[in-house]
Amino acid sequence: MSTTLQQATPARLHHLHIVSAEPRQLADFYRKQLDLVDVTSPDGRIVLTGPGRAVEISDSLSGRQPCSCFVVDTEADLAALRQRLVARNVTCEPADSVLYRPGAFMIRDPQGRCVSFGLTAGSPSRDGLPARLQHTVFQTTELERVVAFYTEAVGYAISDEVVSDDGKTMVVFLRSDDEHHSLAFFQGSQNVWDHHCYETNEWNDIRDWGDRFARAEVPIFFGPGRHGPGDNLFFMVTDPDGNRLEFSAELVRVGVGDTPGVWPHNERTLNSWGRAWVRT
Ligand SMILES: [Fe+2]
Repeated sequence: MSTTLQQATPARLHHLHIVSAEPRQLADFYRKQLDLVDVTSPDGRIVLTGPGRAVEISDSLSGRQPCSCFVVDTEADLAALRQRLVARNVTCEPADSVLYRPGAFMIRDPQGRCVSFGLTAGSPSRDGLPARLQHTVFQTTELERVVAFYTEAVGYAISDEVVSDDGKTMVVFLRSDDEHHSLAFFQGSQNVWDHHCYETNEWNDIRDWGDRFARAEVPIFFGPGRHGPGDNLFFMVTDPDGNRLEFSAELVRVGVGDTPGVWPHNERTLNSWGRAWVRT
């Protein structure tokens, strides 16, 4: 059995490259609501960074789903990961971003989603409410195929699965370090971005984020509640493009080799406090 990212080259989500028909309007939302400031990018792309979070926004990314941009800890880890991917016939292309040091690379999953790996270029410390970018989630029409790619080729490990009454896998949570998931896929009728999540330090931070969105008259879309898989407290809001942002606390950690959990496909699994947003 081959090693996992968690064992060999732990990776964490660092930033997202979002595509938008209205990049300036979207950037205004992220600057104001997420305490982000502009970083100059030579290609004119909008690049925003803040405390533990960063985003790139452009109208020219191929495809409509964002690129998920991960970092590893060392040059040696990055080289080892690239070697692993090349050995599995995964094409690695350069990933240029001012948020990465030189040498970052991107790959595409079997449905064309972009994922990149690199070393962080670092950014000056910024003031703002605590919440680090932590995971991103997609809906897919081919759950089994994409999960096989991310586990077998790339090295993500399955932390939990949600399975329907008739035995169909509906959701898979994948980890790339000790945290329960940095990436997840829901079986759906379309291939679309589902949401992205910012992990806070504690429940009181969730209160503060809720109050911030209340002042901006951005209503809660889903939650507050607690997820079954991951056991994290959460709520979700949407940005002006309709992309969903989650704010979370208390996400659990999972050890190397822990047996994946299996959860029933019902509202209680997705929100033990009450009603859930069930994807179709
Ligand atoms: Fe989430």
